[in-house]
Amino acid sequence: MAHDIEHEKIAHGERAPSCTIVIFGAGGDLTKRLVMPALYNLARTHLLPDNFALVGVDLLEMSDQSFQDHVEQSIRAFAADKHYAQTLDEANLKRLIQSLTYLPADFSNPASYQKLGSKLKDLQNTHHVNDNVMFYLAVGARFFGGIVDQLGAAGLVTETNDYWRRVVVEKPFGHDLASAQALNTQLRHSLSEKQIYRMDHFLGKETVQNIMLMRFANGIFEPLWNRDHIDHVQITVAETVGVEKRAAFYENTGAMRDMVPNHVFQLLALTAMESPASFDADAVRNEKTKVLNSVHRVNPETDAVRGQYSAGQRDGEALVGYLQEDGVAPHSRTETFVALKLGIDNWRWAGVPFYLRTGKAMSKRQSEIVIQFKRPPFSLFRDTATEALTPNALVIKLQPDEGAMLTFGAKIPGPKIEIGQVKMDFHYKDYFQNAPSTGYETLIYDCMIGDATLFQRSDSVMAGWDIVKPVQALWAKADAAPVAAYAAGSDGPAEADALLGASGRHWRELT
Ligand code: BG6
Repeated sequence: MAHDIEHEKIAHGERAPSCTIVIFGAGGDLTKRLVMPALYNLARTHLLPDNFALVGVDLLEMSDQSFQDHVEQSIRAFAADKHYAQTLDEANLKRLIQSLTYLPADFSNPASYQKLGSKLKDLQNTHHVNDNVMFYLAVGARFFGGIVDQLGAAGLVTETNDYWRRVVVEKPFGHDLASAQALNTQLRHSLSEKQIYRMDHFLGKETVQNIMLMRFANGIFEPLWNRDHIDHVQITVAETVGVEKRAAFYENTGAMRDMVPNHVFQLLALTAMESPASFDADAVRNEKTKVLNSVHRVNPETDAVRGQYSAGQRDGEALVGYLQEDGVAPHSRTETFVALKLGIDNWRWAGVPFYLRTGKAMSKRQSEIVIQFKRPPFSLFRDTATEALTPNALVIKLQPDEGAMLTFGAKIPGPKIEIGQVKMDFHYKDYFQNAPSTGYETLIYDCMIGDATLFQRSDSVMAGWDIVKPVQALWAKADAAPVAAYAAGSDGPAEADALLGASGRHWRELT
């Protein structure tokens, strides 16, 4: 019986329907570190389809057997890692490994795609899969357009009869608005919007998904979630790692393109959007795009700061500066830190500044959203000036210590009226057992069941690039203000403090 692809609904938590995943970039780091462990976790939790096959595609000549051995070894190595710590589920690992096949291919050669087409047909006999195929582009961004053109030309993304063909595109989606639009146009030659799953792995994080839950599944937050009660919002994504071994990528990317229009703006959108009409993919994505489209045009001279880490130290350990890292040009102006001040022009947020910062080689690895409430209007306590009353803050802690915290003032015991700051602190780990995961499980599974809620729609990607466009334009100029230095192991450059300091505000200290 024919079934309608559009209306095929698999309930979350059921096994995904039979399909084949084709991974371009099967020999790469992303596949090894995140995608394969995620597939193993899906196998372990009985979410991987009963009839499943995977084709690893990459340049290197390799047999199916050596690909299987290679993946098995790396899963075993990563399973010992704290993120996946557990006893390996040998039966499900074996099942996964047996589903792996390999195709050596030159991404730009049409003959490779003919071979891929035949291979997909063969798998229907050997692995009993049906005609559903997910193409996962775990490759450098410069290959996205070419691969999709070739898939289109070979007829591999045509959805025939009852079966779907989907393409997962990793970030970065373009490097500015114009290139993102051009890439989108290129993809749309071969694919419909519904077939494109633009990945932003932040949306696979439980705590990021929880922002929406926290806001809309509780009665107490929404009434306060607006300009009447909120003084400002801070979004911090601080990392301790430096550029690591990624200079080839990072030198041409920088913190802005790497983190801001994608990860950081996803956090902004989830924090600031209106309640969606439902939790359907388009209802949620409509609201996210709407709020990004309401961001006031940024003044790059006054509202943006870029920084680059110089030599420093953390916990007594000396840290090299960005310019001393392997593969970095001696006079590189690539930014490793960005801070922005944004305003949102709508009734909920007019006049409430949103301060965003992200950086590498900072003092702490800490991602959080701080909702800073307004001060009480006057002080009842004669000896305490209103300014001395610390305003309440709700801190949504995304990583590494996941949870939420509310700060408020309380009386310090004693005959005098003195106010101390206390915290109500919720830690995920005290309530829920964290299933070992890489964060990619949900996203891969959602793509298999056709739920695009946690993937970026094209309009929201464009809205993100559009916000940063004036900043990118200024920073590209040779005579723009220099990149501010900050010591590795610190909380970022002084210029970022000044972004808030001008209005008497300050960043919440990284703790
Ligand atoms: C990636 C960036 O998208 O996100 C990296 O390219 C960054 O530079 C990483 O380190 C951060 O993600 P996570 O999951 O480690 O917080």
